[in-house]
Amino acid sequence: MENQKHIPVLLNEVMRLLNPIDNGVYIDGTFGNGGYSLYILQNFNAKIIAFDRDSSVLNRVDEFKKLFGNRFMFFQDTFSNILSNMEKNNINQVDGLMLDIGVSSMQIDNPERGFSFRFDAPINMEMGKNEFSAFEVINNFSETELANIFFEFGEEARARQIAKRIISMRNDKPIKTTFDLVNVIKAMYGEWQSQKIIPKIFQAIRIFVNDELGELKKVLSDSYNILKNGGRCVVVDFHSLEDRIVKNFINENCKSLNNNSRYLPDIEQKQKRLFKNLQKSVIIPSALEIENNPRARSAKLRGFEKI
Ligand SMILES: C[S@@+](CC[C@H](N)C(=O)[O-])C[C@H]1O[C@@H](n2cnc3c(N)ncnc32)[C@H](O)[C@@H]1O
Repeated sequence: MENQKHIPVLLNEVMRLLNPIDNGVYIDGTFGNGGYSLYILQNFNAKIIAFDRDSSVLNRVDEFKKLFGNRFMFFQDTFSNILSNMEKNNINQVDGLMLDIGVSSMQIDNPERGFSFRFDAPINMEMGKNEFSAFEVINNFSETELANIFFEFGEEARARQIAKRIISMRNDKPIKTTFDLVNVIKAMYGEWQSQKIIPKIFQAIRIFVNDELGELKKVLSDSYNILKNGGRCVVVDFHSLEDRIVKNFINENCKSLNNNSRYLPDIEQKQKRLFKNLQKSVIIPSALEIENNPRARSAKLRGFEKI
């Protein structure tokens, strides 16, 4: 397969944690260019059930269907709907669930998608069909709503000032493109300081538009019903807000393995023993991987197993 637009991040480490086997069934919740799925399908006589909310992966899906036939199945849907799709289609609990969250290179490098502050394009940022696009958020939301989005999802201290300026700019004319937004920030803080602020504002809007944190919380809480006993979930995330959610989920649900208290009531103990943690500390890419694929630099991998 020639198509190598998105380099799979932490591929070896993901596979080591997931530990795929022949006859296993694995869900790839973030199919993208299919890097993880391809590795499993080529190396094991296993099945993949893939999900992606973005219709732009459909050509790649067709290639996979041709190559792997009924070992490969695809749903164009969000990963928060994995469980409901399994129920609707009578799919049994699976051996593994892979999540590689965030944007793909195909999304960020395509100027028309309006994700990137490097290209001038209509500001959109939708991964799939959402309630609203980035354009609608920036041009219709109130000053307080915008400030909260920038602060909560971009951890940007100047959230309020930026929201205020956006409101006054858009009163003159709508903020239509990525560069319109970039220029608002540059006019406030200058070229140099803006380089740190712009990525945070873009990240905040993208997370909000795609409800990325809500999606992650939902799939993690569904993972118990998605996986069979002994099934594993591995998550690659790319920023601290996501990583905090994964880390907290693991701490809350795997804790009692190494912290069994005989004073806790039975129910509480049982609830806390849903999963076991698969590694002592978070896994990050090697210097060599980052050199070959700079986009891997902020990746973090964590995993847990249903018990
Ligand atoms: C980082 S890429 C995955 C790359 C893939 N592992 C590979 O090796 O090619 C993330 C993909 O997940 C999809 N995605 C992000 N959030 C999603 C969600 N909540 N539900 C379904 N797909 C999602 C994006 O559309 C994108 O195609």
